[in-house]
Amino acid sequence: MELSDPTQLLADARTALDAAVDTAALADAKARFLGRDGLVTERLKLLGKVPAEQRSAVGKTLNALKQSIEALVASREAALRQQQLDARLAQEAIDVTLPGRGSGKGGLHPVTLTIERIETIFRSIGFDVADGPEIEEDFFNFTALNTPADHPARSMHDTFYVEGQDAEGRGLLLRTHTSPMQIRYARQQTPPIKVIAPGKTYRVDSDATHSPMFHQFEGMWIDEGISFADLKSVYTEFLRRFFETDQLDVRFRPSYFPFTEPSAEIDMRFAEGPLAGRWLEVSGSGQVHPQVVRNLGLDPERYIGFAFGSGIERLAMLRYDVGDLRLFYENDLRFLQQFNP
Ligand code: FA5
Ligand code: MG
Repeated sequence: MELSDPTQLLADARTALDAAVDTAALADAKARFLGRDGLVTERLKLLGKVPAEQRSAVGKTLNALKQSIEALVASREAALRQQQLDARLAQEAIDVTLPGRGSGKGGLHPVTLTIERIETIFRSIGFDVADGPEIEEDFFNFTALNTPADHPARSMHDTFYVEGQDAEGRGLLLRTHTSPMQIRYARQQTPPIKVIAPGKTYRVDSDATHSPMFHQFEGMWIDEGISFADLKSVYTEFLRRFFETDQLDVRFRPSYFPFTEPSAEIDMRFAEGPLAGRWLEVSGSGQVHPQVVRNLGLDPERYIGFAFGSGIERLAMLRYDVGDLRLFYENDLRFLQQFNP
């Protein structure tokens, strides 16, 4: 066999391997010399044809050549790996002199904080806390609350109606108040019934003090002999604890709701502070109408009590001195962060 100059072959291999810029190119270059049909392999295959007296010397030379090329491949491989690592490190480099981004700390929304505060106070005076659907049946939102289809009081609420109907073919809507929870809750309990039900409510309504989505909390206490005096003491106690002051007056102003009789708006007045002296409406209320007591599944001759429904944003605005209700729903962090210092 013609063994072309092994020194030249090694030099060619070094040039080819050094020219390989990535592992794929390196594999190609390696194959050109050491692969199944590689230049060195081909020669090794022909070793049998070399005259016997030269075979050993040629074999040694070829093996030495093969090992040298293998060593070149290994060192080129290591060099390429190091290059890749360097490139990645450079790309992922972190400039430790840059100012930190900080980890944003989440906080609770002021309306959520207000709901938690209301729940804590009412739980402490023996009220349960209940939750119910926002997509409500017409029946629970109006009819069971003594407001049948042709009742003029329906126009007191501008209602969002929802397509479709419930299993009994009755219409669906976004609840306009939390009062349907009176019916839902009482039908599953036996007296004494003592509950608040906070949650979202919806009306076609939007200005500085009205939002199409807002929150109310319903309150109800039904038992034998629960009177309007109990409503006055419970709600006054609530307001004083909520605002953390006894310097606050409460008045019950005659009003109308189909589901209470008599009915009253609850107004409050601070004795001190920026709002001192102004009467502010915070809630609707009244003694639960006998027809509604019947719809709760109870005998109105035996059971009596009160209910109220209060605007939660209204209370939050007074507590935090917020002038425009829409601020709660604009998601402006400058506003929201003030509630989570
Ligand atoms: C009611 O919704 C009655 N269900 C309350 C009630 C319950 C009376 C139980 C008797 C017994 P009214 O529509 O007045 O009542 O709403 C109650 C409170 O919800 C209001 O005082 C106001 O604070 C708040 N509110 C009403 N509409 C909006 C609105 N669009 N945006 C923000 N708050 C509202
Ligand atoms: Mg009202």
